[in-house]
Amino acid sequence: MSVIELEPLVRKLSSPLATAVAAPGRVNLIGEHIDYNDGFVLPMAIQQYVVIAAGKLKTAKRCCSFKSLQLDESFELDLDNTATPDPTAGWRNYVQGVIAGFQELGIEIPSFEAVIHSTVPLGSGLSSSAALEVAIATTLEQLTGHTLTGPQKALLCQRAEHEFVGVPCGIMDQFTSVLATANQLLLIDCQTQKFQHVPLESTNVAILITNSNVKHQLADGEYAKRRSECDSALKKLAQKSWRDVSQQDLDAQQHGLSPTEINRSKHVVSEIQRTLQAVQVLRQNDFETFGELMYQSHNSLRDHYQVSCHELDALVEIAQSIGRSGGVYGSRMTGGGFGGCTVSLVDANRADAIVRRVMSDYQNQTGIVADCFLTKPARGAHVLK
Ligand code: GLA
Repeated sequence: MSVIELEPLVRKLSSPLATAVAAPGRVNLIGEHIDYNDGFVLPMAIQQYVVIAAGKLKTAKRCCSFKSLQLDESFELDLDNTATPDPTAGWRNYVQGVIAGFQELGIEIPSFEAVIHSTVPLGSGLSSSAALEVAIATTLEQLTGHTLTGPQKALLCQRAEHEFVGVPCGIMDQFTSVLATANQLLLIDCQTQKFQHVPLESTNVAILITNSNVKHQLADGEYAKRRSECDSALKKLAQKSWRDVSQQDLDAQQHGLSPTEINRSKHVVSEIQRTLQAVQVLRQNDFETFGELMYQSHNSLRDHYQVSCHELDALVEIAQSIGRSGGVYGSRMTGGGFGGCTVSLVDANRADAIVRRVMSDYQNQTGIVADCFLTKPARGAHVLK
C-alpha cells in the first residue's frame, strides 16, 4: 500500500479522522556503527513508510488505542499510566515510550485512537522501529498542537528506544526518519548532532536495496556488546571521542587493547574517514570511488566489527562479481547487521538486469529468495491530512 492510500486506515477508525501522518524507514549508504561512536553517517529515507490515521476519542478514562493492520494486532494504553515499560509488550513499547516522552515535557495528550500501517519491512535493518516511533511522535504533534524541533523529536524517539525497548541505538535512524528530504542524502555529524543535506540527483545511478530475508535482532545483545567494546577501547586509548583517534594512534598504542578492541577500533577509525571521503567524492559524482568505499566499509564490518553474516557477504560478493562492467559501483551490508539488507549503488539503466542476476545467484547459493527494490531518497516524516 502506498502512502496516499489512506482510505483503508480511515475506514477502521470509529471517530472522525483528526490527522494522518507518514514517517519513512531509512537506508544508510555509508558510516555504519559509528553514530554511537561520534562519527559521520550518510543515510537517506526510503519510499517505505509507517502511516498512521488518528481520531480523537471522547472517553471517561484517558486512554488511547492502536491497531496495526499489518500485524493484525491491537492494544490500549492508559494515558495516566505510561511510565513503566512492559518487557513482554513487543511493539507497544515503542509507542508507549514516545507517549511517555511527550508527557514528560508536560504536554497533555487527549484520548485518541490510531490505525497504523507500515510498508517498511520488519527486522530488516531498514528502521521499521524508528519509523514507527517518529510516526507516533508526528501524530502526537498534530493531536496536541505542540511541535518539537526536528532534532528534539528524533532524540525523544531515540530515548523511547533506549528506555522502553532496551536497544542502546545511536541517533541515525530517528534523525533520518524526521529530517530527510527527497532527492538528498543526510550527512549527520553524530558528535555535534549537526546535519546537512547532500544531493543525489543524478538520474544515471540508482540505490538498490536487497533484503537477505535473514531477520536481524538488535535486542539480542550483540549491538550493546559492540557499543561497550568501543567505549572500553576508547577509554584505554585515553581519548574522549573517536574523532580524536587516528590510525597512527592505533598503531602506536595498541598495547592495552584486547584483540577484539583492536578490531573494533580499526573499524571505527577507518569508517569515520571513509564516510568523509565518500561525501567528497559524491559531490563530484565520482560513483566509482564511492562504490569502492562501500566495499571497503563492508569488509571492515565483516572482518573488524564482525556484524555481517554469511548471507550478507554472499549478496555483496554477487554484486562485486557483476562488477562495474555489469553496472554495479559498490555494495555493502546496511544497518545493524547480522541479517537484514545490503545497499548497492548501481547504474540506473542496468538495474533490472542486476536485480535478476542478484536474485538468481543468491537463491542458488543460499536457497533463500531475496527481495530487491530500487528506491530514491525520500521525504522525511510529514503530515498527510
Ligand atoms: C541500528 C541503530 C543505529 C545504528 C545502526 C548501525 O540501526 O539503530 O543507531 O547504530 O544500527 O549503523
